[in-house]
Amino acid sequence: MKFFIDTANIEEIKKAWELGVIDGVTTNPSLISKEKREPTSLLREICHIVAGPVSAEAMSLKADEIVEEAEGLAKIHDNIVVKIPMTEDGLMAVKRLSAGEIETNVTLVFSPSQALLAAKAGATYVSLFVGRLDDISHTGMGIAREVREIFKNYLFDAKIIVASIRNPIHVVEVAKIGADIATIPYSVITKLTRHPLTDIGIKNFLSDWEEVKGK
Ligand code: E4P
Repeated sequence: MKFFIDTANIEEIKKAWELGVIDGVTTNPSLISKEKREPTSLLREICHIVAGPVSAEAMSLKADEIVEEAEGLAKIHDNIVVKIPMTEDGLMAVKRLSAGEIETNVTLVFSPSQALLAAKAGATYVSLFVGRLDDISHTGMGIAREVREIFKNYLFDAKIIVASIRNPIHVVEVAKIGADIATIPYSVITKLTRHPLTDIGIKNFLSDWEEVKGK
């Protein structure tokens, strides 16, 4: 299972990369906008920190323009993966890009049928937004489980990214389903490391060790 970090914040990316558990990065227009920086230089800097795929979203809506924008984004760095929203034009662009060297990440996927189409079009990655489904009282992880089953049935090459992760339980659920990747915000990555019994255990060991040293 791979972990991507879901942010465009350089400090968060550096800290997560140093932890040694991150395999890639996903950004989106909202995450980039928060950083108040010129996007191309920001994406280039991210690619220099993380040795792995870095998703950057194409904002065009027509197939021809998406392909052209994707080609421009891919020039930023070899590790750029172009995120393309799940639309009919998006699928046409993915199909055309899949014939070349540019990797794609079909984003804003909320149903098994959308995921199936993205895989058939030749997407490298398919991003399922489980948290946003939970937000409207659907079971996001249930959809992820169905997509995993479908991709397994037909041995699709597309990798499943479970996105819109909100908490550590989501991450454990992704691992149980066997999806390829969870893309996780920095705040959830830090929560994954913590357990109150670990903190109590360290405190007790330290105080017992002080006594040993005192003797
Ligand atoms: C995925 O690639 C998206 O950037 C992200 O996971 C969206 O998450 P959100 O629903 O918390 O905005």
